[in-house]
Amino acid sequence: MGAVQKLATTVIVGLVALSTLVVVYLANEPHRRAAEAQEQEEAAVERGIQLFVANCVICHGPAGEGYSEPGAKGTGRIGMPLGGSTEAGIAATERNQTEDPAKRKERYDLIVKTLNNGRGLMPAFGTGAPGGALLNDEQIHELASMIQDVDWDLVYNDAVEASGGYPTFPPPPASAQPAPAPTTAPTDGGGDAAASDAVTVTSYDIYFDPKTITVPADKEVKVTLPNAGAAPHNFSIDPLKISVDINPGETQETTLTAPAGDYEYYCNVPGHKEAGMVGTMTAK
Ligand code: HEC
Repeated sequence: MGAVQKLATTVIVGLVALSTLVVVYLANEPHRRAAEAQEQEEAAVERGIQLFVANCVICHGPAGEGYSEPGAKGTGRIGMPLGGSTEAGIAATERNQTEDPAKRKERYDLIVKTLNNGRGLMPAFGTGAPGGALLNDEQIHELASMIQDVDWDLVYNDAVEASGGYPTFPPPPASAQPAPAPTTAPTDGGGDAAASDAVTVTSYDIYFDPKTITVPADKEVKVTLPNAGAAPHNFSIDPLKISVDINPGETQETTLTAPAGDYEYYCNVPGHKEAGMVGTMTAK
């Protein structure tokens, strides 16, 4: 073979090899796209888990199992079951993670709507939140994807890890555990329950302890406000223009002077008052 022929053969062989590569690459494109989409979906679910652990476990439980007894003090959970291994949780997972595309879309829309606007005791997190959205559209999508795709065992593991143990809301620390009788029974006039010019109201998830306090009327009273919960809370008395935010683990203080009468104190974090985070202060 002459040099020119050799060169021509090499070029032809090279071109054939190159076009084969291009064809193989192009043929693989849909797979690559699908793999990319799947990766993005998995990342969305992963972010959804983190959002759930930070915002939702308090009411919906670490595995999405929700309340054991609706609103019961001590469970601190008022959320509907979304997942988990209870009977209601399994039914919820079946509803939310259905394979039927039409039903799946319907569930997605319902979840997004509930997250945006709230529903009943479920606070609004998105565009419908009274003080402005707490979560953006992307985050709401991530939560919805997570609810529709997640293995709830993973959520449970992350939730337990985040709170360094099974996240029960509360248990109150032993030192803060109140003797049950004097705080709730109207034993006015006797010992500790008498009007006091220094009171402590502890926030838990999601209730105050005590639920009733008595203070002297028209006298300055110091109010100490520890937050022993895992969520941010607040102490508000509207007619006295008091609103104190309390981060978890923090203790705030305020003073108030109240004319004789009964006053409602409550937590202004969305959904908390409705969940029972409310009490009565009597000034006399
Ligand atoms: C203050 C407690 C509370 C918090 C916090 C909370 N939820 Fe809820 N959630 C509820 C309650 C109560 C319901 C039931 C509402 C009703 O009665 O219609 C509910 C319902 C839902 C539903 C509807 C379920 C269905 O099948 O209809 C979804 C989805 C949901 N919550 C997701 C979330 C997510 C995600 C978060 C965190 C961003 C969250 N919730 C935070 C209390 C809460």
